Order: sequence, then structure tokens, then C-alpha cells
Amino acid sequence: MCGIVGYIGKKEAWPILIKGLERLEYRGYDSAGVALMNPGEILVYKKKGKVSELSKFVKNKSDKNIGGTVGIAHTRWATHGEPSDVNAHPHLSMGGNIAVVHNGIIENYLSIKKVLIEKGYKFKSDTDTEVISNLIEDIVKSTKVSFDEAVRLALLEVVGAYAIAVLSKDDPETIVIAKKGSPVVIGIGDGEYFIASDATPIIEYTDKVIYLDDNEMAIIKNKKLVVKTIGNEIKNPYIQKLEMKIEELEKGGFPHFMLKEIYEQPRSIKDSMRGRESAKDGVVKLGGIESFQDKFFNAKRIIILACGTSWHAGLEAKYFFEEISKTPTIVEYASEFRYRNPVIYPNDLVIVISQSGETADTLAALNLVKEKGATVFGVCNVVGSSIPRATDAGVYTHAGPEIGVASTKAFTAQLTVLLLMCLLLVNKKETLNKKEIKKLLEELENIPEKVEKTLLCNEKVKKIAEKFKNIKNFIYLGRGYGFPLALEGALKVKEISYIHAEGYPAAEMKHGPIALVDENMPVVFIANRGKLYEKVVSNMMEVKARKGVVIAIITEGDENIKKIADFWIEIPETSDVLVPFVASIPLQLLAYHLASLRGCDIDKPRNLAKSVTVE
Ligand code: G6P
Repeated sequence: MCGIVGYIGKKEAWPILIKGLERLEYRGYDSAGVALMNPGEILVYKKKGKVSELSKFVKNKSDKNIGGTVGIAHTRWATHGEPSDVNAHPHLSMGGNIAVVHNGIIENYLSIKKVLIEKGYKFKSDTDTEVISNLIEDIVKSTKVSFDEAVRLALLEVVGAYAIAVLSKDDPETIVIAKKGSPVVIGIGDGEYFIASDATPIIEYTDKVIYLDDNEMAIIKNKKLVVKTIGNEIKNPYIQKLEMKIEELEKGGFPHFMLKEIYEQPRSIKDSMRGRESAKDGVVKLGGIESFQDKFFNAKRIIILACGTSWHAGLEAKYFFEEISKTPTIVEYASEFRYRNPVIYPNDLVIVISQSGETADTLAALNLVKEKGATVFGVCNVVGSSIPRATDAGVYTHAGPEIGVASTKAFTAQLTVLLLMCLLLVNKKETLNKKEIKKLLEELENIPEKVEKTLLCNEKVKKIAEKFKNIKNFIYLGRGYGFPLALEGALKVKEISYIHAEGYPAAEMKHGPIALVDENMPVVFIANRGKLYEKVVSNMMEVKARKGVVIAIITEGDENIKKIADFWIEIPETSDVLVPFVASIPLQLLAYHLASLRGCDIDKPRNLAKSVTVE
């Protein structure tokens, strides 16, 4: 949530900063701004709306001055104060000496603001961030300490979460960066440094990066970098090599990242399992959890914590873990779990799932279970992000960067890794015999091909979407493995097309949602031929009896449902466990086409952000 970018070196900062903001726009797009060092002043340009609005605004300015080689920039997801020019970052201190960009929330900003107002400071915005720039300015004025020391002293007063980058008019060759609870990465070039909320703006310039840890700050001054704690202890930063490829950050001919990412799934699923299993030998090998294997194998109960789509992947995993590995599993929203006083036993196995690895609630829930002494395993996509760094062990999903705000390929990659974790447990507990394990792995190996085949339904799904583009509500129903899919399908539609959609277990429909069914209500059924097929068909008949319009996701060649449903989309035959991998595809495509036909901003849906770093 909110993206920050910075540059200090010998190149012009503006093009690097604006391109960086475009890469980080998935983190928020309420407003954007930039601060550039200019001899004797800090120039600030900021604008409500997307990064393109800022670009246009600067381009059309007759007195623009964008030639500096040092600068910071920001794309905002509003928390304190509505989206507006004045609330956009960077925030200049009252005297114009200090400029700050910030991702996070300063919880005690009101009390700091009160003190500063008493000292005569005037505030222009409604944001929590503006207190940081004024506080730093005040410390510099009143104590005469250096700029970087003033930042450090200010941070000792601040309560909350932040990643900040700060400029000072009087130190034109310096940027100070600090982190607590929100991510920040520093790219190291040749006599130049790149700062960003994640590595995507950095990769085209350098693959050498440092991830700051919580309570650390970096001072880049006269081409030298010093990392220390907010407590003033010098640290030896660990320089990592980025594995990301620049093409992964481009749309590659697709109109939207979301569609590109939907189509990438045959490959991303393959990448998630590559080198981790062999159907021929019936084995699963997950290097990332080997050192904690005993904890993993001795689990009496699994607790899965996540938010959003990752939570839906967790709910599918509950069905895997209970049905195949016979391990009791509970799945919790991290945001609820963190404020309860949950009971954790020493032999509980906690798994946190997060695409971004930065979701604030998931991170907080993780820290809570760690405090309670549990071992925590992560299933994350973004390498080096906060969650995998805080877990004891884990498995990366390797789906590649996911840029569309609505999660697609990360979901199926999470399913892949979670199923592999489950099969690792199955192997150990022998809850399936070797032949059964080999068969399941064989089927999993065939999934990328089946997903490829399922993608051929795109045109048909688009035609269905045409019929429903003006509808106001949808119901999504499924049972067993189809139930989390119903939730996920409904979430996708809500997120990007702004149509209200409700996901429900198909049998629960008669306890409420059936009252909504009439000839104007489309009901999407996940109705593959599996263990609960007949039950789902009965639920479908109940909808038809009330004149509801049925759109069914069916197993290839199911002539029976074709006679009942108004519309159908076929998916290849596969075992129940693997249905979510293929059935996700038409659900994602339906949401995509509905949104596209309604003219919605698919990759940047209103009010949402991809990485939710505030609670
Ligand atoms: C946001 C995103 C969703 C995502 C959720 C959890 O709401 O828009 O796509 O599922 O956060 O994110 P995580 O990165 O923890 O999986």
C-alpha cells in the first residue's frame, strides 16, 4: 500500500522516479508526487489521481524544472486524508527544508502534531506523514544535529509503521531511508542508489540489492551507504542478487496484466512444482522446509493464516490436508486471528500464505504465533519480502511477479505448493499408499497441460459475459473443493467489475440466498463430475425451479448438465483435489470479461491495492 521510489546518483532522477512509480502503481493510485533536489530548494510536484496524471501535469508546466539527480517519489493509497493534490506525497516541512515520502501509518501523529502546532508549525494536509517532515525540521532547528541524526531522533518519537525516504534542502547529496513494518529495498549501482518499495523499479538498473530490516535506516551520503539501527548501531548490510527478469514486468502484448497473468498459469504452475516432486518415484522434496521437517511431520493440527485470495487458497488446502493427509486443519483470516487470544499448542503447524509477503495483518498474525512459541511456515511469492523473512521456514511459489491487483496466477501457484506440502505429509504419515501418491503426482504434472486446454474457453466465457455485463448481482455456488472456488470466483467479480457477487456453499443456499433467486439472478455453479456431483445437480435444480439463470462449470462431455444449465463451460476431467486448478480459469476469465465490457480499470480497480501494508 503506497509505493515509494528514490534515486541518488549521476543520472537525471525524474525519468527513473516516474518509471518507478508506474511499476509500483499496483500499490495505490489515489495520487502521485515527486520531490527533486534543486540548488537551494526542494522542488515538489504532486497530483491527485494516477501516475499518468502527475506525468501530464509536469509535462504541461511551463516553469518545470526536472533536471536534478537526486529525488524521491510516491504513489498513494489514501489512509489519512482524502485523495487530493494537497494530501499527495511528498510532504514538505513548513520551512521547505525537509521532504518525506511515506508508506505506512503513524499512529501517534495527532499528539506529535499538537506539540508542533504549539511550537508554531502550520500543517497543509490531513495526512499523518506531514508530522514527520515537520518533526525532522524542528529537531534540526532546535538541536543542530545533522540531518540523518535528526531523522533518527524523529523516528524514536514515532509510533506506527513506516517505510520513508527523506530529503533535506541543506544536504543535497543525501537521502535517508528507514523501515519499520513496511518494505523498502535499496539497489546498488555504480556510484548510484535506487530506492523502492519492492525490487520492480530497480531491476532494470541493477541486480544488487539490500533489504532493510525493521528498525533499520540507511544513510546514502556523498555516494556512500551506511546502514544502522534506529537505536544507532551500525550494521553490515547483506547484498542480495535479484533473480527477477525485466520481461516479467511488461504486459507482453496483452491488454492487461491480469489477462497476461491468467494466461501464464500453465507456466507458473509448472514453475511452482519444478524440481519439487517426481511422480515416477512418488516423492516430494521441499528444500525450504527441510531443516524444520520434524516440526512439520509431527504436527497434530495445521493452522492456516492469510487474507483475500490467499485465504481462499488456504481454504482449499484445508480440504487437501484433512482429506488426504488426515490432519485437522483450521483456516483463519489473519485480521481476525491477530486480535483474538488464540490457543496454540506446541505441536501445531502454522502456515501463513501471502502473495506479496507484505500483508500487514498476515505479518502481525505471524508475529503473534511466533511469540506464542509456534513454528511458522510461509507460502509466499515475492522473494525476500517481509513474511518469508519472518517465518522459520517456507516454500516460495515462484509464480513470477503478479502485477494485476486481482490475484490469479498466485492463487494456482499457492494451490500447487500447498498440495505438495500436503503430499509430503501424506508420504510420511502413509495416509495414501505409494500407488495413490504416484497417481496424484502424475495428475498434478498433467495440470499445466489441462490449464492450457481450459484457457481455450476464453471466447465462450466472453460471450457469456456479454449477456451479463449489466447485471447487478451474482451468486456463486460450489461444494467440497468447489466451495472455496465459489468464494474466489465471487471475489474476482466484485474486485474488478464492481458487480455484487456472493459465494456460498451450494447446500447452504436454501438457508438464505435462495430467497434472492429469480429470473434476473445468475447463479454460477462449480459442478464438475466428482464426489458431490449429484448433490450439486440437485442444488442446481432448486435454482432452476425458481427461474434462476444457471451458468455451470462442468466436466468435459457432461451432457446431463448441458440439458439443465442455461450456459456451461467445460473443464478437463481430473480428480476432485485438482479441480480448483482448472476450474479457477473460467472464473478468472468471467470476472475479467465482465470488467472489460463494463469499461473498468482492470489492473487498478478502485479503492484496492495489491499489497495491503496497513491493517
Ligand atoms: C489484497 C489484494 C488481493 C490479495 C490480498 C492478500 O487485497 O488485492 O489480491 O489476495 O491482498 O494479499 P497477499 O499478498 O497477502 O496474498
